Amino acid sequence: MVTIAVPIEGEGETRAAISPETVKKYVALGCQVNVQAGAGLASNILDKDYEEMGAKIVGSAQEAFSGADIVLKVNRPSVEEVAAMAEGTVVAAILNPHDDRAGLEAMAAKKLKSFSMEFMPRITRAQSMDVLSSQSNLAGYKAVIDSAAHFAQAMPMMMTAAGTVPPAKVFVMGAGVAGLQAIATAKRLGSIVTATDVRPAAKEQVESLGGKFIAVENDEFKEAETAGGYAKEMSDDYKRQQAELVANHVKGQDIVITTALIPGRPAPKLISADMVCSMKPGSIIYDMAVERGGNCELARPGEIVNENGVLVLGPLNIAGALAGNATSLYAKNLYNFLALFVSKDDGLNIDFEDEIIQGTLVTHDGKIVHPQLTEGTD
Ligand code: NAI
Repeated sequence: MVTIAVPIEGEGETRAAISPETVKKYVALGCQVNVQAGAGLASNILDKDYEEMGAKIVGSAQEAFSGADIVLKVNRPSVEEVAAMAEGTVVAAILNPHDDRAGLEAMAAKKLKSFSMEFMPRITRAQSMDVLSSQSNLAGYKAVIDSAAHFAQAMPMMMTAAGTVPPAKVFVMGAGVAGLQAIATAKRLGSIVTATDVRPAAKEQVESLGGKFIAVENDEFKEAETAGGYAKEMSDDYKRQQAELVANHVKGQDIVITTALIPGRPAPKLISADMVCSMKPGSIIYDMAVERGGNCELARPGEIVNENGVLVLGPLNIAGALAGNATSLYAKNLYNFLALFVSKDDGLNIDFEDEIIQGTLVTHDGKIVHPQLTEGTD
């Protein structure tokens, strides 16, 4: 019988790696599921909700790990957790593998078979396992709701007997999963939405949601998308032209939501301190990329910076603020992934030739094995 363990996440994390729905699915696959008491509390899931679906509630992480073949987490396991796991345990989590190399090496030394869910290949078969999509989508929605809450004006246009309230102008930078959801949410609230991206495919998507697309559309732009669907780092000349365009546009905006990321690299700096100062007091900048260095020069992780009346928000774990939804979707992503290699008849049986396994496997057989993490080493 395959045993799955889920400990409580560390400080600051509201999400859990398992939901009552996925406990039921794992039990149907013939698994035993050990959940540490309180693991779902921050997502408003009670121990008895898990228990009713067939989980065994245990008192500590250590107890959960005892006899476990697989450990499911939201964030990378701590040093203590790694020490408490048996050699060869399978771990699936958002490992943030580019950070804390020493921690990753400790996982390798423990011979863990660890999978980094954010490395999920962007292929059709893996869509239901794509944690970046499921979490970014929620975060894009929340970004608009939080920005609107801090904005001391209305979002939609209102025509009243006492006069007309103008609609808010919202500019979304980066039209990937989070950006597109932000555009859709801002439109639903009645604001005027513009958006930018460096990938040409984004233009049609922005327009189909009713947003106006603004970008430097030169030859470099036409080739800015990688085969994996991600953005590339742009040339200095492109960055200069983009900065000019953005500087002119940002001045007149009420809310700017930035989402721009480049895999494995710091977030591109798109909004300078001068641009912030050019905005009207009361305007909002919501930097969704702050955990990766930020798109706005003035954004600080976990803080709200007030620069001449412009609020620059640097929120952390945005999806975690919608913990109920975020846990439900993340847990489902993990289940869909595990169903690749856990079955009632064969138990745990990993096909190391599978594109999805190869794309996400980070440590195996005592080594760090992912190509994105081994380049330049050895
Ligand atoms: P991301 O989170 O890596 O980046 C967010 C956005 O920022 C991207 O659209 C990117 O092009 C943009 N960006 C990067 N540098 C920029 C710059 N200097 N200026 C302006 N914008 C910049 O991307 P995300 O949201 O993960 O999506 C990337 C693509 O992958 C999208 O086309 C998405 O639709 C696609 N996708 C495909 C899936 C599949 O086929 N399974 C699943 C999920 C997403």
